[in-house]
Amino acid sequence: MPDETGTPDAPVSPASTASPLEQAVLRALESVIDPEIRKPITELDMVDRVVERENGLVEVGIRLTIVGCPASDRIERDVRQAAESVAGAGNAAVELSVMTPEQRAALTERLRGGRAARTNPFGPGSLTRVIAVTSGKGGVGKSTVTANLAVALAARGLAVGLVDADVHGFSIPGLLGLVDDDGLAARPTRVDEMILPPVAHGVKVISIGMFVEPAAPGGRASSTAVAWRGPMLHRTLSQFLTDVYFGDLDVLLVDLPPGTGDVAISLGQLLPNAEVVVVTTPQAAAADVAERSGVVARQTGQRIVGVVENMAALVQPDGTLLELFGSGGGALVAERLSAGAGGGEPVPLLASVPLSMALRQGGDMGVPVVVASPDDPAARAIEQVAAQLSAMPRSLAGRRLDVSVR
Ligand SMILES: Nc1ncnc2c1ncn2[C@@H]1O[C@H](COP(=O)(O)OP(=O)(O)O)[C@@H](O)[C@H]1O
Ligand SMILES: [Mg+2]
Repeated sequence: MPDETGTPDAPVSPASTASPLEQAVLRALESVIDPEIRKPITELDMVDRVVERENGLVEVGIRLTIVGCPASDRIERDVRQAAESVAGAGNAAVELSVMTPEQRAALTERLRGGRAARTNPFGPGSLTRVIAVTSGKGGVGKSTVTANLAVALAARGLAVGLVDADVHGFSIPGLLGLVDDDGLAARPTRVDEMILPPVAHGVKVISIGMFVEPAAPGGRASSTAVAWRGPMLHRTLSQFLTDVYFGDLDVLLVDLPPGTGDVAISLGQLLPNAEVVVVTTPQAAAADVAERSGVVARQTGQRIVGVVENMAALVQPDGTLLELFGSGGGALVAERLSAGAGGGEPVPLLASVPLSMALRQGGDMGVPVVVASPDDPAARAIEQVAAQLSAMPRSLAGRRLDVSVR
C-alpha cells in the first residue's frame, strides 16, 4: 500500500494489508539467500520492509547482520534482481541498514536452534556425519584429497563443512581459492560471538589460516610459524566446533595434522562419532606410518571407514605406467587395518588416486580438480571415494547404545 508519509521505518507489511505487488515482492525475496549464512533472507529477519510507492515503484529495506558486511553488494544485487523480477526493471529501490544488537542477538539465538551458546553441535547424538582425514606423515596429499572430497560431496547435494585442523601446515584456504592476491586467507565474518565460515564450491570452510596474522607486512599467512601446544590445539578445535555457524550439515570433514599427536586425541573427545579415512602413498615406508595413525584413531574410539591411496602410478602419454612412489601401499594399509579390526568390519581401500598434473594445478589455482577437470583420472578416483562414503551406512562407533550385555 502506498505510504503517504514516506516513513522510512515502516515495517514489513503484514500479509493481510500488503498490496498484491508487496506480497509478490516478499515472495520473490524468499529466493534470496544470504551467501554466508546460506539461508533465505526472509528467514533471517533481514527484510525490514517492502513498500509500494507511486508508479509501481517498490522500496525494499534490508537489514544486514553487521556493519561493513562483506556480502552486502551481493545481497543488494540479489534483492534488486528479485524485486525487479516482479516490479519490472528499474522499479526497485533497495535501502540497506544494519540490525540492532537486539535483532542480531535474536538472529544468532535462532541460528543456534535453541542450543546454548558455546555448545558443540557435533557431539553424541548429532546427525552430522563426521569424517576425519588423517595420514601418518605430511606431503602425501591429505589436504588435497580432503578439499576435493568435500567439493565432490557438496556436488552430490550434501550440506558439507570442512574444518582445517592442520594447525602446522594449514592449506585448505589456498586449495579452495579462499585467499586474496597476497595469499592471505579469507577472513570469516563475525556476528557477535558467531563466526560465519566462508563458502567455497558449496563447502563451508574454516581454517586456522583464517585467524593468523601474516608474518610481516605483505608476508604470506601460510609462512607464519604457528607454535601450538596440546591445550591450545584443543581449544582451537573446540572453538571451531562451537562458535562457527555451520548450520545443519550432512557431512563435516576434518583435515587433521599428520601424525598421531594431540589433535587426534582432542578429536576423539570432541567428535566421538568421527569416522576416519587414512591417506597414504603407495610406498611401503609411508604405509607403516599411515597404519599407525589409523591405530591411534581406533584407540581414541573412532571407526576407520577406509583408506585412500594417493600419488599412485601416473599414466604416461605412451600408455605406460610410472610408479614414482612404488605400488601396493594403499592395499597394504587397508589389509593391516582390517586385520587389526579385531573381528570388526574390514577396512576397504576406497580408491587409488593417481599422480596428476591437473590435481596439483587445481590445488595451486584454488579450483579443485573435481570441478576444474572432472574427467581427469584423479578427479574420477576422488569422485569414487565420495560415492562410496555417501553410500555407507552411518557409523554407530562411539555412540553409547542402550544395550547391556551380560
Ligand atoms: N595425486 C597427486 N598428483 C600430483 N600432485 C599431488 C597429488 N596429491 C597431492 N599432490 C601435491 O603434493 C603436495 C602435497 O599435498 P598436500 O595435499 O598438501 O599434502 P598433505 O596435506 O598430506 O601434507 C601438493 O603440492 C599437492 O599439489
Ligand atoms: Mg595438509
